[in-house]
This record gives sequence, C-alpha cells and structure tokens, in this order.
Amino acid sequence: MFIHKPVLLEQALTLLGGQGRELVFVDATLGEGGHAEAFLSVGPRLVLYGVERDEQILERARQRLDHFGRRVRLFRLDFFEFFRSFSQLVDKPPQRIFFDLGVSMFHYRAGKRGFSFSRNEPLDMRLDIEKGVSAAEIVNTSSEEELRQLILRFGEERYAAMISRAIVGERERGDIESSKRLTEVIWNAVPPSYRHGRIHPATRTFQALRIAVNRELDLLEATLPVAFEHLTVGGRMGVISFHSLEDRIVKRFFQERNKSCTCPPESPICQCGGQRRARILTRKPVRPTDEEMRKNPASRSARFRVLEKIA
Ligand SMILES: C[S@@+](CC[C@H](N)C(=O)[O-])C[C@H]1O[C@@H](n2cnc3c(N)ncnc32)[C@H](O)[C@@H]1O
Repeated sequence: MFIHKPVLLEQALTLLGGQGRELVFVDATLGEGGHAEAFLSVGPRLVLYGVERDEQILERARQRLDHFGRRVRLFRLDFFEFFRSFSQLVDKPPQRIFFDLGVSMFHYRAGKRGFSFSRNEPLDMRLDIEKGVSAAEIVNTSSEEELRQLILRFGEERYAAMISRAIVGERERGDIESSKRLTEVIWNAVPPSYRHGRIHPATRTFQALRIAVNRELDLLEATLPVAFEHLTVGGRMGVISFHSLEDRIVKRFFQERNKSCTCPPESPICQCGGQRRARILTRKPVRPTDEEMRKNPASRSARFRVLEKIA
C-alpha cells in the first residue's frame, strides 16, 4: 500500500533510536511515514513530531501513524518554518532530529506533478502546491542563460547549454507544459552517445528543476543551524542526502559544529568563544549495503551522516 521504501532504515534505527529511552524525535521529512513508523515501533516511549511540506503525502502518513495516537503530532510545514517557529509550536526540545532529503518514490509514481521524466504529467514539481512557481513557469519564462545556469548548478549537467538552447527554441512552438514534452526536447538536444548512458539524459535536468522549484538547497542550508539550536545537549541529528550538492551542505555544517573555533579565517582573534558544539558520529557517511541497493535501487546514492550535540 505504501510506495516508498525507507532507505538505510537499520542504520538509522541504530544511530538514532533511543534503546527504549524517553525521546522526543523530529522527523523533519515525514513522507509516507516509513522511517517514523519504524522509530515509533521500536521505541515505546518515543514521541514523534512529523513535519511534511506536501499535503497529499502527509495524509498518507497520517493514516499510517494513526494507531500511535497521542505519541504523534503532525505539522504541515516546510522544515525551515517548523524550526523557526519551534518554540511556538511545541514545548519539548528534541533529542533526535532526522532529515531524509529530497522527494519520495510516491512523488515519482503517484504525485502527478511531473517529477518523473518517464510519465506524461503537468510540469509542476511543487511539493507545496499553494506556494512558489511551478517547473513549467521556470521552463517557459527563464532566459536561455538562466536555464543554463540552473541546469548546470542544480543538475551538474554537462550538456546544460545544449539543453537550455533547445528548450528556448521549442518554446517558439508553444509553452512546454508536460513532463513528456520536456523529456523529448532534452532527448533530442543531447548527443546520441549520451542517450544510452548509465542514466536517462533527462535525469539531471529534472533534478535541477525540482531543486530550484522547491528551493531545496537554500532551505537545507538555512535550516540545519536553526534545527541544531533546538536539539538538546547529548541529542543527535541525522541526515540522509541523495546527491553531492546536498551532502556537501550537510558535511560542511557538521564539520563547522565539530570545530572548536568557528570564526571566519580572516578574523584575527577568536570571537565565538572557541567552544566545540558537536562531535561527528559518522567519520565517513554511512552507505547502503549492496543488498539494499539491489532491493531498492533508489537507495544507491544515499549518504547518511550523524552528529551529536555536546554543547
Ligand atoms: C525521501 S522522502 C521521506 C521518506 C520517509 N522517510 C519515509 O520513510 O516514508 C522526503 C520527504 O520530505 C518532504 N520534504 C522535502 N522538502 C521538505 C521541506 N523543506 N520541508 C518539509 N518536508 C519536505 C518531501 O515532500 C518528501 O515527502
């Protein structure tokens, strides 16, 4: 009944489960609630705050977690808003904060918003359909240079220039409104040798649009420090990321909290007090096993990092 298989579940339970202790756990990216259900099941004294930006998927999680009753509270918010308003929303600080970034398999298979290049759907890609601009608006109104930069930056797509030129050319025949039409434009724009590579040639452009539409990197960068401040001392924050752009942000943030002085290098004397705030529990990111990758190919690029707050 649920479409998304939770990634790195055993590892997340080991590093973030509380061995039966009383815990306030924030799942900041609830999705269909797969991880949340597992944490609630193994931790009878765990209370979960579930945060999700997408109303459609939040409803699925609500049904799944309903039987846990008052141990679960759900918030339809983006995680930045949630942590920014944390003290107004809830009264207990968390011992655990968990992010499982990106979108869910539900979005690709049943979201009907153009997340997948292998379906013919309206090109929207917004997780919160009440806010922001859709992928179609970006595709149809950006200049060629803006599109090139977006596809290069968020998709790390080496044929960004060819693809953006083709998109702008195609717009002369009318707006690009569907995922299928965009996929065809990309397919025809790239060199034939690129069409039969390891990934579909539209993968990176679709990723770039999704990241831009949902401001995924900006929100992540802004949220980690705010979330960290709410974590109790001794508490843990775990983040699963799915591409190098996200992982870089997480890694850098963790390294900064792990250092004793976080003043900028140009600062002649230490102004931050020089206190180390956290220790990193995963020296290298935790990766899925070969077996998990075989059973769930969507887990292939997952990287899990965990830090513990010490001050
Ligand atoms: C990979 S899925 C989570 C899957 C979940 N752990 C499970 O096991 O079912 C990521 C979820 O985070 C949500 N999401 C992405 N960005 C968000 C944000 N800024 N705030 C809140 N939710 C967000 C997406 O809508 C998606 O449902």
